[in-house]
Amino acid sequence: MAPFTPLASGILFLLWLITPSRACTCAAPHPQMAYCSSDLVIRAKFMGMAEVNQTTLYQRYEIKMTKMFKGFDALGDAPDIRFVYTPAMESVCGYFHRSQNRSEEFLITGQLRKGHLHITTCSFIAPWSSLSSAQRRGFTKAYAAGCEECTVFPCSSIPCKLESDIHCLWTDQLLSGSEKGFQSRHLACLPREPGLCTWQSLRPRIA
Ligand SMILES: *[C@@H]1O[C@H](CO)[C@@H](O)[C@H](O)[C@H]1NC(C)=O
Ligand SMILES: *[C@@H]1O[C@H](CO)[C@@H](O)[C@H](O)[C@H]1NC(C)=O
Repeated sequence: MAPFTPLASGILFLLWLITPSRACTCAAPHPQMAYCSSDLVIRAKFMGMAEVNQTTLYQRYEIKMTKMFKGFDALGDAPDIRFVYTPAMESVCGYFHRSQNRSEEFLITGQLRKGHLHITTCSFIAPWSSLSSAQRRGFTKAYAAGCEECTVFPCSSIPCKLESDIHCLWTDQLLSGSEKGFQSRHLACLPREPGLCTWQSLRPRIA
């Protein structure tokens, strides 16, 4: 084996050289945390292919906003968003939109920078039709009630324990191997009493 080792490491080195930089990795957030940590949360349609700006290496997608859930204060008197901006390369977490369907509505969460909506592959972006009814209620209204006080705390390996009364332990990754488990699809971490947050089911209110 020994004589091959330099060759093998040479090949590894070569692979390392031609692999286009480090891949973007990010942990998908619980939708409530995505809501809380974003400046803007909207529903919109993607109107076409991305346009790349070769100077900035950003690309932008034209969108048609159909609803805004968060960002009224941030946007002030210009509440229309016509483009979303994202890096033009996947290695730096650029978002690539796969669907060609211009009538399909997407929930988009992102950050506002200089009046522009920025997204990455790490942003929570999903077809509106793929969201559970609890998630729709969450984005429309319910998640906001937990932003100030409560934190969804990811538990990805055993043991994990609750470190604070304002945390809700998020075990979807552990139990279902995916961030799209029960707590993500049906629950929000909301204040129960001052200083205490718990998972709560987002059922429709019967008026
Ligand atoms: C690219 O971005 C720069 C800096 O924001 C801007 O000045 C320029 O007009 C953009 N180019 C195109 C083709 O949009
Ligand atoms: C496009 O999206 C709309 C709305 O979600 C849906 O009704 C329609 O079937 C989709 N069309 C195609 C070709 O997938």
